[in-house]
Amino acid sequence: MGLPSRVTLVEVGPRDGLQNEPTPVPVSVRIGLIDRLAAAGLPVVEAGAFVSPKRVPQMADTAAVLAGIDRIQGVRYPVLVPNMKGFEAALAAGVGQPGLDEIAVFGAASESFSRRNINCSIDESLERFAPVAEAAVARGIRVRGYVSCVLGCPYEGVVKPAAVARVASGLMAIGCGEISLGDTIGAGTPGKARSMIERVAREVPLERLAVHFHDTFGQALANLYAALEAGIAVIDCAVSGLGGCPYAPGASGNVATEDVLYMLDGLGIETGVAMDRLLEASRFICEALGRPPASRAALALLARDG
Ligand code: HMG
Ligand code: MG
Repeated sequence: MGLPSRVTLVEVGPRDGLQNEPTPVPVSVRIGLIDRLAAAGLPVVEAGAFVSPKRVPQMADTAAVLAGIDRIQGVRYPVLVPNMKGFEAALAAGVGQPGLDEIAVFGAASESFSRRNINCSIDESLERFAPVAEAAVARGIRVRGYVSCVLGCPYEGVVKPAAVARVASGLMAIGCGEISLGDTIGAGTPGKARSMIERVAREVPLERLAVHFHDTFGQALANLYAALEAGIAVIDCAVSGLGGCPYAPGASGNVATEDVLYMLDGLGIETGVAMDRLLEASRFICEALGRPPASRAALALLARDG
């Protein structure tokens, strides 16, 4: 299969990235980051999460973030929603309005990770997500489904592709339009990534799959290339390589949006994202966090162009 001519980049930095910062990032900075990412041409910018503020204090105030962003027409701003309580909070914060018409539920292919992350088994998680997805679809809200630990689990080690396929097809069955396959701990390598995708694609059509690779072992771009060759055309990434999961100790950031864009631009694959504007977002968040970007492309381009 040839490479796709166009790829949709799903920017997860304001959620996956900032949920992992040791100190919660102020609402004004979260809003400033989201607005800069949308202005750079990112078609989907994950804006936050309606989860327990005791468990993930960094995502508290997601309602204030949604209220403060300058919604650009045509850009989607999804939020994570783990249960009906989160869905009701999302609705109260305006989810269901134009632009705020997408939520994401998040399950896992490993039982131990599911328990630690969302405090229930895999089957229970699908039972919890089903009414959320049903209520969302009834209101015309799109539902994305994440599967974590698709190439390894921080607690169980190896995860079988068949286990990933089972959860992915379960999420599709309850109404998820897109399934994002998460290498939460960045353990995958290209051959394994490709085999996993091929196995999942026996249950879920390829055009409904996305990949979400963390870069812990420096394999994310290679894995992404394998995913593109396998027919994937939706890629999750985080500006400046932000990211991690509070329930995946040692896992580092998502693959950096700047690095993915540099590779896709070089391959002649369209994304609609402008590198110079993306670098403005990168500079903004790095200044706010007080550290350089975890993106090789951003470091090289900022050093060259100032
Ligand atoms: P639970 O403990 O099973 O829920 O939490 P519960 O119903 O027993 O409630 C316990 C407390 O949480 C109660 O409060 C509820 O009101 C509250 P208390 O009485 O103790 O004061 N609560 C909530 N509060 C706000 N919003 C809610 C909500 N639900 C319950 N929606 C729950 C279940 C999932 C909520 C909890 O375990 C949780 O919030 N976990 C955090 C999960 C999380 O955000 N993880 C990080 C994101 S996933 C990720 O990063 C992976 C991904 O990037 C893909 C990849 O890389 O693989 C997506
Ligand atoms: Mg993640």
